Amino acid sequence: MNSHSATAQASPNIAFIKYWGNRDSALRLPVNGSISMNLDGLFTRTSVSFQPSLALDELVINGRQVGGKGLERVSGILDLVRQAAGIAFRAEVVSENNFPTGAGIASSASAFAALALAATRAAGLEWPESAVSRLARLGSGSASRSIPSGFVEWKMGQADDDSVAVSIAPPEHWDLADCVAIVSSGHKATGSTEGHALAPTSPLQGARVADAPRRLELCRRAVLERDFNALAAIIELDSDMMHAVMMTSQPQLFYWKPATLAVMESVRSWRNDGLPVAYTIDAGPNVHVICPQAEMAQVAALMREIPGVLDVLQARVGGPARLV
Ligand code: PMV
Repeated sequence: MNSHSATAQASPNIAFIKYWGNRDSALRLPVNGSISMNLDGLFTRTSVSFQPSLALDELVINGRQVGGKGLERVSGILDLVRQAAGIAFRAEVVSENNFPTGAGIASSASAFAALALAATRAAGLEWPESAVSRLARLGSGSASRSIPSGFVEWKMGQADDDSVAVSIAPPEHWDLADCVAIVSSGHKATGSTEGHALAPTSPLQGARVADAPRRLELCRRAVLERDFNALAAIIELDSDMMHAVMMTSQPQLFYWKPATLAVMESVRSWRNDGLPVAYTIDAGPNVHVICPQAEMAQVAALMREIPGVLDVLQARVGGPARLV
């Protein structure tokens, strides 16, 4: 590896308190802070190589050459790195996910986190974690949270510089797991970049945002105190509130399928029977079921029995983005 190349790996994350809506969409400055958990075992691995011989940036994802909007978004991040490092070379970017792209696990978080770390190092920049998190945020908001380790809070901040994510607890702090019910493997109809822009059209968004500091505080405390019941209550409320905003946006965003509801109902009834489980849903139909690692195998087996559940992915709490 020469001094103009680097490879980095980052995990996706699941939001406990959701990011939905921007106050500045170009800078991806959110209207509220968010809290998430990194997902161990799932990752994007990305190599960036700045080369004097290239006329244009090149992007290969899972073996396929990508142009258009996807390449533009990556070049935007590379431009910021070139500017900061004072280099003009174009780059070759080669990226692989170890989880199926069509499986409905958002890959933009792990992808832009791995890109931000690999690109800065390839350009010779040794930035602190907060600066890499800020750069990742400019590619995809949730990517800012895939830079630090374990349980992570993205502070909304005052401006571009301080809207960054920090670890609030390391992975070993709490043995939680995420069992993801895959109920549809199709690509989502509306991506989150367009979704954030629709958030202010819902009459419920103002109330969701106004109440966010309270939910963040309850979630942060539940994580720090390892209080599963408190966590379950706040993450289900937060997910329901985001989906209420989505369903009441104009045009409406409706991500749930019948199997989505079937999993939500099962989770509620298992919890009533004493099993520690809680659901949360991102901008898609798949349901993330959070539980202690001790219950992960049992929960995944129960989930597989629900009609309409095609597969269940399992992940423990993941570490930070890192160079490989
Ligand atoms: O980072 P984006 O623009 O893909 O937005 C992510 C939005 C949600 O996944 C729905 C919520 C979140 O905080 O991850």
